[in-house]
Amino acid sequence: MAEPAKPQILLAEEAIARCRTLAGFSENSTGLTRTFLSPPMHACHQAISKWMQSLEMLVETDAIGNLRGVYPGLSERRLIIGSHIDTVPNAGAFDGALGVMIGLALVDGLARQRLPFEIEVIAFSEEEGVRFAKPFLGSLALVGGLNLEGAMAQAVRDFGLDPERIDEAKLDASRVIGYVEFHIEQGPVLEEVDLPLAVVAAIAGQSRFAVTFTGAANHAGTTPMRMRRDALAAAAEWVLAVERTALVTEGLVATVGSIEALPNAGNVIAGEARVGLDVRHQADEVRLTAVKQLLDEAAEIGLRRGVGVAWSERLNQATVQMDADLIALAERAVPFKMVSGAGHDAMILAAVVPSVMLFVRSPGGVSHHPDETVRAEDVAAAIGAGLSLLQDLAKRYN
Ligand code: GLV
Ligand code: MN
Ligand code: MN
Repeated sequence: MAEPAKPQILLAEEAIARCRTLAGFSENSTGLTRTFLSPPMHACHQAISKWMQSLEMLVETDAIGNLRGVYPGLSERRLIIGSHIDTVPNAGAFDGALGVMIGLALVDGLARQRLPFEIEVIAFSEEEGVRFAKPFLGSLALVGGLNLEGAMAQAVRDFGLDPERIDEAKLDASRVIGYVEFHIEQGPVLEEVDLPLAVVAAIAGQSRFAVTFTGAANHAGTTPMRMRRDALAAAAEWVLAVERTALVTEGLVATVGSIEALPNAGNVIAGEARVGLDVRHQADEVRLTAVKQLLDEAAEIGLRRGVGVAWSERLNQATVQMDADLIALAERAVPFKMVSGAGHDAMILAAVVPSVMLFVRSPGGVSHHPDETVRAEDVAAAIGAGLSLLQDLAKRYN
């Protein structure tokens, strides 16, 4: 039975308040950090399950820890709306979580109306790649692209799930009419063009590597400078080389965002330095050429300094185009398109189902930071665009 629809601004304010509630479920008391299947993920699931159940959704957790709620429809067809609920360390409240909360707001906005398809809202357990230096674990399980073993399988068991059931997380793509992901833009473009929303045309490809420099730990006071094999100095030289390469390559972004020195003591020359490399470009060949050049440079620096260099690839994700048909449908409500520099679950889902994303303006272009925020009017506009998209799809599948 249809009931009066809630005003979109109220749905938006509720979605924002819920993101702030979820931000309270953290691994520490000083900010928001909620990595893959960490203890606070239990409280997060509990809250989201309750909200889903209040919308008559059937809720399950799959073997990789994705929380999945299905709002029944008039056929077996299914539309998926989702994003992730893991975070980077010291995160903001909206990266990922907003997409899930908008999914619930859309179901709420239907006011109990049944559509000619089910709506599955998925809160992906892992997208950021923080805990195991490998991103997209939640969405990879849906496309059958996840090999669950070792420490990762143990993390699943520790959370109370069964890694042996990972195959059950896989999508039956033949039933799925599309995947829609709402996400904050995480950059300055929408603010610059003074628009609340964008349709994402493509998501830039990315490479990630773990790189280890191995030198010789020794006494900082007694080892002459010319007799050192300083792993941290070698890594530092390379970090600047990475920045230099990105600065002179149009459209390339390259980042060393993590570094760990061993034994990490002020009076010991570092014997080992472990760093993380992240390289992105819209054109895959530019990205792959840059990666090769950067790794060659690391090897050259190591050779010159007597420091061993080894790397392991953690991600080689090509640029992904969003679905042209869903873009055209979304553009009816959102007449502005852009490319995403950030990675998203849609990148993985797009391999098996038509996928599209809508970006919500990020005030100040700030993200991966506690100051990350959104405007209620922009979220209301996103909900309005989402409801239009649902009604357009309903007409098509009626
Ligand atoms: C996801 O946040 C990414 O790093 O692109
Ligand atoms: Mn993120
Ligand atoms: Mn995100």
